[in-house]
Amino acid sequence: MAYYIGVMSGTSMDGVDAILTDITDTAIAPIAAVSVPYPAGLLEQLHQLCGISPNEINHLGQADRAVGRVFAEAVNKLLAEHHLSPADIQAIGSHGQTVRHYPEGPPGNQNEDGFTLQIGDPNTIATLTGIDVVADFRRKDIAYGGQGAPLVPAFHAARFAELGKNRAIVNIGGFANITVLEGIDASAIRGFDTGPGNALMDGWCLQHLNQPFDRDGQWAASGNVHEALLSSLLADPYFVSTGPKSTGREYFNLVWLRHHLHSLDTPIAAEDVQATLLALTAITIADKVNALAQIRECYVCGGGAFNSQLMAQLEALLPHCKVMATDSLALNPQWVEGVAFAWLAWAYFHRVPGNVPNVTGASRAVVLGSLTLAD
Ligand SMILES: Nc1ncnc2c1ncn2[C@@H]1O[C@H](COP(=O)(O)OP(=O)(O)O)[C@@H](O)[C@H]1O
Ligand SMILES: [Mg+2]
Repeated sequence: MAYYIGVMSGTSMDGVDAILTDITDTAIAPIAAVSVPYPAGLLEQLHQLCGISPNEINHLGQADRAVGRVFAEAVNKLLAEHHLSPADIQAIGSHGQTVRHYPEGPPGNQNEDGFTLQIGDPNTIATLTGIDVVADFRRKDIAYGGQGAPLVPAFHAARFAELGKNRAIVNIGGFANITVLEGIDASAIRGFDTGPGNALMDGWCLQHLNQPFDRDGQWAASGNVHEALLSSLLADPYFVSTGPKSTGREYFNLVWLRHHLHSLDTPIAAEDVQATLLALTAITIADKVNALAQIRECYVCGGGAFNSQLMAQLEALLPHCKVMATDSLALNPQWVEGVAFAWLAWAYFHRVPGNVPNVTGASRAVVLGSLTLAD
């Protein structure tokens, strides 16, 4: 028995997930999880930090500590609920909170100094929990010329690959990423970010209904897909290649959407826009599942797996493929990314590479993360 805790907050910023996971050389078994929301003030600060704003360094420094405190709170809650002490846990794997992701450099200044930035001070987490923390997983992949993302494919292979099965694992968080597994052939692992997952739908829903997300895709279901808008969105060059590529709020955001709406110059009902955004997510995922290999099984994780409308559209677009949530492989869809970061902490100590060069574009497979000791 070796317990690791993965702590994750993705681009949706819907809450910090901490997952207690038992990891050995032969098994990865999630045990329990908690989710802790960001306090409203911090959430607002984080949204602001995702774009350009005045006094960024001071705001960043303070948000780094504040996110670290929320991550520690999630870990401590998990320990308390399960009557565990810090000594029972080998290490925390902390993803942190992404506030910028420019692997090729920011617009107008694209050069070899691309970067990605996750905050959530590991020193604060280690101090408040009494547990060693492995964090900063993405930047070594960037230093080796990669995108720094997606990092879940190595874990998907470790947990979900099965001899003789061609599988797609699709993670639908704020953005969506796909991993293609052909049996257990490690050299055949492929993956990339397909584009928007829930982020645009969430943003549109917040703006028009004042709700953080469209539960079960009900609002989208009340509208009709606007074909001209859909074609316009699908024409974005991001959707063409099969990677390596990764994306985020920096590119796909409501400004991007508004640009397409304005260029059509025709009024479109808000629910029709929502229906079109849901179709965009489903189509850009399904296109790649269809393009990449003879895939017969598609397992969905991330919050998007709970959007029944989105799942139904994926099924309709993939008639030759069984579309299921990862529950079918004994892993709650909401836990998958957190378990991945618990596994990445395990991988750090066992000198197992956490990136897949075919996926990120890095020049080699490397051990990811930096260690902060609790004392
Ligand atoms: N019942 C649901 N119906 C529709 N969407 C949902 C539901 N549950 C979760 N989601 C979506 O999932 C998102 C969170 O997914 P998550 O995998 O945590 O993303 P991230 O990794 O970006 O944090 C929410 O913002 C929401 O859009
Ligand atoms: Mg989340």
